[in-house]
Amino acid sequence: MINNLVKENIQSLQPYEVKECENIAKLDANENNNVAYLLNQKIAKSLMGLKVNQYPDSDCCQLRKMLQKELGLAPQQLMMGCGSDQLISIIINAFVGEGDKILTHTPTFGMYKITAQIAGGTTVEVPLGKDFSFDYYSFIKESKKQKPKVIFLTNPNNPTGGIIPREQIIKIVEFSDGIVVVDEAYFEFYGESVIDLVNYYPNLIVLRTLSKAYGLAGARVGYGAASKELMAVLYKIKPPYNVASLSQIAAMVCLENKEILEDVIQEIVLEREAMTKQLESLPKVKPYKSYGNFILCRLENAKEVYEHFLNNKVLVRYFGETGPLAGCIRISIGTKEENQLVIKLLMKALGIAEEIAV
Ligand SMILES: Cc1ncc(COP(=O)(O)O)c(C=O)c1O
Repeated sequence: MINNLVKENIQSLQPYEVKECENIAKLDANENNNVAYLLNQKIAKSLMGLKVNQYPDSDCCQLRKMLQKELGLAPQQLMMGCGSDQLISIIINAFVGEGDKILTHTPTFGMYKITAQIAGGTTVEVPLGKDFSFDYYSFIKESKKQKPKVIFLTNPNNPTGGIIPREQIIKIVEFSDGIVVVDEAYFEFYGESVIDLVNYYPNLIVLRTLSKAYGLAGARVGYGAASKELMAVLYKIKPPYNVASLSQIAAMVCLENKEILEDVIQEIVLEREAMTKQLESLPKVKPYKSYGNFILCRLENAKEVYEHFLNNKVLVRYFGETGPLAGCIRISIGTKEENQLVIKLLMKALGIAEEIAV
C-alpha cells in the first residue's frame, strides 16, 4: 500500500549505500584517519560552556566570520551546511524541478544524481576520457545541447582523483546559462581552487567540506561560497538551525588549529605519492593519478581483493563489475600503518612475496 503512495521518481531511486563495519581499518569514505582524537580535548573544553538547551546560531555567524577572513569574501557570500551534502540538496531544490536537467561528468560523486532525481530532475552524464581525464570538448558540447539548469564539476574528482584545469572551469562558467557548482571537497590535498572567482561570476558556486582534510566527518559541516545574489536565493530555502551547535564548535576549533591540520595534510599527500609508486610497482594493478586523499585502482580480480581486505578487517570501496568503474577499488589514504597493511594484503592477494615491494 505504501509503495503506491510513493512518488514515481522515488520508487526507482537507488539509495546511496553506506557499509557499516566495526573494528576495521576504515579506508572506504575518504575520511582523515590521521587526525582522529587529535583535537578532541580542545573540542571538549570548548563545549563546556555550551547552552545545549538553546537552538544553535541559525546562520553560523561566528563560523562564517572566521571563514570570511580566510577567504576574502563577504559573510553574505557564505553558507554553512550540515555537510556539503546539504548544500548540494539546497542548490538542487532552488533550481531543479520536474523535467529539469543537471549535467555532470561520470564517474563522479553519486549524490548529485540522487538529489536531482528526488527533486524530479534528470541527470545528463558526460563520460570522462582516457584514464578518467576530464573531456572538456564533449562537456562543452553537451552543455550547449542540453542547456542544464545546474552543472556539477568535482575538482579533484571522487572517485577517480583527477582534476579539471582552471581555464576549462572558467570557460564552462562563461559558456553556461545555468548555475555551475564546483565541488572542492578535496581541495586541501590539491591546493588549487576557483573560490576567488565567485566575485566575478554570479552563476558560480564553490562547495567545500570539513569532512575530509579537517577530519570532521562526524560533525557534518560543509560550506558554500557564491555571489551575494546567488546566495540570497539559497538562503531563502536553507532550513533554520541546520548546523548543530556542537558541530559549529567543533568546526571553529578545527579552523583555529589549522596549522596542526596543515602538517597532517602534507603527510597525507606524501603518503599518497609513496603509495601510488608502490601500487605502480605491483603487477596487474593500475593506480590512477590522484589529487585527493584516496587512490582509485583497477585490478584483474577486484572482488576477491576487496573480500580479502574485508576478511582482514580493512574496508575499501569496491565498485562492482559493471560500468566505467568495473574492477576498480578506491583506497582512502589512512595512517602509515594502515597504508602499509593495504600494500601487504594486496601483495598477499596477488601471490607476491612481501620483500619485493614493501
Ligand atoms: C566530491 C564530494 N562532495 C561532497 C561530499 C559530501 O561531503 P560532506 O557531506 O561530508 O561534506 C563528498 C563525500 O564523500 C564528496 O566526495
